[in-house]
Amino acid sequence: MKNQKHIIVTGGAGFIGAHLVERLLADGKSVVVIDDLSTGSRDNLRAVAMNKNFRFIQSKISSCTELPELCADAEFIFHLAATVGVELVVKSALHVLEASFNEMQILLRAAEKHSTPLLLTSTSEVYGKSAKPEFGEDDDLLIGPPGHSRWSYASAKLTDEFLALAYAREKGLPVTIARLFNTVGPRQTGRYGMVLPRFIAAAKKNESLKVFGDGAQSRCFCFVHDAVESLVRLQQCETARGEIFNIGGTEEVSILELAKLVVTTLGSKSKIELIPYDQAYAPGFDDMRRRKPLVEKLDRFVKFKPQTTLKEIIRLTAK
Ligand SMILES: NC(=O)c1ccc[n+]([C@@H]2O[C@H](COP(=O)([O-])OP(=O)(O)OC[C@H]3O[C@@H](n4cnc5c(N)ncnc54)[C@H](O)[C@@H]3O)[C@@H](O)[C@H]2O)c1
Repeated sequence: MKNQKHIIVTGGAGFIGAHLVERLLADGKSVVVIDDLSTGSRDNLRAVAMNKNFRFIQSKISSCTELPELCADAEFIFHLAATVGVELVVKSALHVLEASFNEMQILLRAAEKHSTPLLLTSTSEVYGKSAKPEFGEDDDLLIGPPGHSRWSYASAKLTDEFLALAYAREKGLPVTIARLFNTVGPRQTGRYGMVLPRFIAAAKKNESLKVFGDGAQSRCFCFVHDAVESLVRLQQCETARGEIFNIGGTEEVSILELAKLVVTTLGSKSKIELIPYDQAYAPGFDDMRRRKPLVEKLDRFVKFKPQTTLKEIIRLTAK
């Protein structure tokens, strides 16, 4: 019988990964993190650094020589490692595409040898420019043209989804796909263009909040603990294997309203400034007007859907 010892979290030193690691350790699991610290940080894992059930390996997945043994002894793999953040993606499309495919393939091959179940964190970006008011997992996807490097992230993640599902169908690997919508919470960095941490950091310093475009584009935000709860429940759900799930909040807010809400919730004196997309990014930047998930499928399979309110999210994140 397979000795099920630990859970592997790739990208475990990142924003979501570190919250997931804390949760798994609190549940009494042993956790091995593989992270190259390209965007993550050991600081994110400070709270668990001394935990005897925790091990950190600083490495790319593809350079991790222990990967075959680690997969052989793993109960589960959460694959979160990726190049994340619109600014970073626009700057290095080549890296996003090559790294994503290469790392995913190496991980799937290692997992397949022992049929180690794997959960891939994909993204709402795969819905692309679809104008639907709400996105369901079976929807057609409308990604922008390859001339716009912004779409390289969605294409890379979508390729990962295809690859993972092909391993599930053709090789019997138990795979679950989670499409995360904007996930926010403590320790998220605004360095790579994430909107809420940027707004909160500016509001705390009474500096102006920079809203790109006309600010009427809307998003739904999901508190990171809700996302982690969803991921852990999906891990435990046998019937979720081979399926795709949206994970996201459903309270829709325009980016302009979000900026105002951050200012009032934090009692800030900041002003709000509208910046044309062409100044914020390269000319021709595509942005989606709305991005709201349907989360009924998640609820149906794991009896949970994210529900922390936006005001509460802002308060908890600003702390
Ligand atoms: N934060 C969001 O709103 C959001 C939304 C949709 C999807 N996601 C997905 O969730 C996952 C986690 O995102 P996050 O926000 O925590 O980002 P993050 O940048 O904080 O975390 C990613 C981690 O992966 C590591 N990493 C990158 N490439 C690696 C490699 N080749 N080998 C080993 N480690 C590597 C980074 O150092 C980092 O610690 C990603 O897959 C991302 O695509 C996040």
